[in-house]
Parts: sequence; structure tokens; C-alpha cells
Amino acid sequence: MRTYIINGGNKLEGIVKISGSKNSALPILASTILCGREYIIKNVPDIDDVKMMLEILILLGCSAYYEGGSCYINTKNLNTCDISDKLSKKLRSSIIFLGPMLGRNKVAKITYPGGCDIGSRPIDLHLYGLKELGVDVTEEGEFILCSSHNTKSNDISLRYPSVGATENLMLFALSVEGRTRIYNSAKEPEILDLQRFLVKCGYCVEGAGTDTITVFGSKNMAKNISYDEPVEYSIISDRIEAGTFMALAASTKSKICIKNVDKRYLSGIIKLYREAGCLIDDVEDYIYMINNDRIRAMDKISSRPYPGFPTDMQAQLMASLCRAEGTSYIEENVFENRFKHVSELNKMGANIVIKDNLAIINGVSKLHGENIDVRDLRGGAALVLAALSAEGRTVANNIEHIDRGYEKFANKLWNLGADIAEK
Ligand code: EPZ
Repeated sequence: MRTYIINGGNKLEGIVKISGSKNSALPILASTILCGREYIIKNVPDIDDVKMMLEILILLGCSAYYEGGSCYINTKNLNTCDISDKLSKKLRSSIIFLGPMLGRNKVAKITYPGGCDIGSRPIDLHLYGLKELGVDVTEEGEFILCSSHNTKSNDISLRYPSVGATENLMLFALSVEGRTRIYNSAKEPEILDLQRFLVKCGYCVEGAGTDTITVFGSKNMAKNISYDEPVEYSIISDRIEAGTFMALAASTKSKICIKNVDKRYLSGIIKLYREAGCLIDDVEDYIYMINNDRIRAMDKISSRPYPGFPTDMQAQLMASLCRAEGTSYIEENVFENRFKHVSELNKMGANIVIKDNLAIINGVSKLHGENIDVRDLRGGAALVLAALSAEGRTVANNIEHIDRGYEKFANKLWNLGADIAEK
């Protein structure tokens, strides 16, 4: 169990450079097995989830390594259709290998990705869409066996704009002859990034970022490109990491320049923190944020699929509202169990009451350091933000959750003047 020791109260100042997007990197890395060739994926964050994806690629017979912020991948020697290895249990996102594996090999065996820290995480929408495209799905205990020998292009309507299901179906439909349309598709920026990567590979996909994605699939998939040259692609920066550092600035006395951001994906969060009293300048690819202490409370914020308020920012927003002046309300509408950070925030002196999926945050003047447990990725980041705004010493346990999705988190905080060290 790894631990952060944090002494709160420091004024934070300086520049933080945002890394590449975790939620772009994972589907793009998985998509490389669809067509056996070389890939160089740049601006990839050095995080544990990426390491896990590369390990799975190697288990599947590919070569994959990470160097200097880029992933070097060669999937020509993919030699199995079985992703049901112990690794896939450790990484829920490994479900995203299903679509490309089926597209490449026509068969796939995966392990049911169990629930995780924030909810049951079903995959019914993934399997529904694959069946609509002619995939035969059989479930044997914890395993799912799929075969795609009689596929047909189709129009698929998702009952919910699931990010993972949208990505999996995009990737599988590339191998299905004809036009497939995915209605009510997720519109997250990471899906547009995936589409841009796929077009760079020579596939025909359009509509990402809207609620209808159209895939022009082909049995021999990517055409008209030389396979001798690797596909080179640089992924977008991580909007959730950028939002996390904005929440940090709003939680403390701070003057922080957040560099390497794509403001188009942060306008909602910028608006919220401006209205709460932070001074924010957004220029080119950076956001300059000044906060002099307690922000104003926010009326009801509801997490929703993009372009709504991102569920991945819910915990961090809550941490920044613990010491706000007034009462704030946050509704979690995407995952059913994403308030695990609340008990730990209340141990630090916050006054948060939960009613079903609504958190009522009664702002207090100060928080105090505590011995707390991190239970999931974004909740963990939120607890660190709270500890940095608290008086006294906090010991944050199980910080490996944070390493899954934040590159050099403690280093970046230290460089801004935070008193944080790993024990
Ligand atoms: C992606 O997860 C992200 N992960 C999550 O980020 C993010 O919170 C989520 O999208 C929503 O934006 C990656 O991109 C790797 P969903 P995903 O399918 O694809 C239900 C983080 O912190 N659902 O859109 O799993 C599901 O239970 C992570 O970076 C079904 O009911 O999200 C949930 O309630 C956490 N059936 C809702 O949809 C399905 O078949 C949203 O899930 C699939 C999903």
C-alpha cells in the first residue's frame, strides 16, 4: 500500500503541463490490433492503465513499448483471440479489445469485466450492438465467447450513449462490409480523437462528436495505404486532468497556469469556476487561474454524458466546494456508486449529506488533516485536493488508484508548491 503525506495550507503557484488523455489513449491502443501493422502513438501519459494495455498487447503476441511519451506498437504478430487473461481482470477498460479482436480474428474470448470502484459497469450495450451486427455471443460463466462469421452492416440505436460501447462498435463495424450507423452514440472528445486516429489509419468513419456515427466498413478494412510506414498519431490532452488542476486552484490560495489544454472541452468548467469567484484567463492552449481563498457555492450541478458536466470531474468539484461559502448541490447521474470520497471528506471536517444520487455540500470555513483511504481514481485525486486545502497533516492511503490515471501527480503538485511526499 503506497501513501502520500500531505501538509496542507500552502499557497500554490506556478505552471503545470497537462499530459495526454487517458481516455483517448486506451481505446486507440486497443484499436491497433484491428489491422496488423506498426503504430507510433504520441503524447501518451505514463500511467498504470497504459502500462496494463501494453502488457495485454504483448500477451496477445504483439510488440509494444513506451518511450519518451510515445507508444511503439507492432500488431503484425497477434497470435491469439483470448483476452480472458488475469490482466483483463485488472483492467476494466480491456473490454475495448473485444471489437477490434473480433474484427481481426472473427472470434474473441474475453472475461466478463467485473464491476469496479464506481459501479457495476455492465456491458449489455456492447453485446447488444455486436449482435445487431451479426456477432454470435455465448456466455460461459465468467467468459464471453464471440464469433463474427456472418456479419451484416446495420443501424444500431443505443438506449444510452455509452462511451465504451460506442468505441467498441465503431471498431468492430470497420470490419463489417457496408454502412453501419450508431445512433445515440456518445459524443465525448475522446471518441472524436479515436475517429481522427482511425481516419489516419485509412478507415472510413464520420460523425464522431455528434449523436450519429457512420462507419463504412470493409472486409479488408484499411485500404490504399502503405503498410511499410507506421501510423503516427498524437492524442489530445487530458481534459479531466486539466479540470482536476482547476479544482485544485479553486480549493487553495493559488496562481496556477495550466498549460497544454484544449479549451473547447473545458468551457463548462471554466464557466462554473468563474461564477464561483475565480479569476480565469484562457489564452491559446493555457488557462491562467487565480483564487484568493473560499469560492462561492454552486447551485445544482448534474453529471451527464458529454457535453454535460463530466462525471469524471464530480469528485474533484466536490472537494473544491467543501470550503465554499454557502451550500452546493451535486447530482451524480452516470454511475451508481461514485460518492465513496464523501465519507473521507467528512472525516476531514467537510459537511456533506448524501440523499440518493444527490450530494449536499454545506460549505465549512476549514478542513483538517486526517488519515484517509483512497478508493478510486477520481475520488483519490479529490481527496488530495482537499488535503492540500486543509490545515495540518493528511496521510492518504492506497494512492495506487491515482497512479492509474494521473501522470506524475505528486511531482506536478510539488512543483506548484504543495507539501506532498510519497511514503
Ligand atoms: C468511460 O467509461 C470512461 N473510461 C470513464 O472514465 C467515464 O467515466 C465514462 O466513460 C463516462 O464518461 C474510459 O474511457 C476508459 P460508459 P465507460 O459506458 O465506457 C452504463 C475515469 O475516471 N452502461 O459511458 O465504461 C454504465 O453502467 C473513467 O477516467 C450500461 O448500462 O462508460 C454507466 O452507468 C471512469 N451498459 C454508464 O452507462 C453498457 O453496456 C456510463 O458508462 C455500458 C455502460
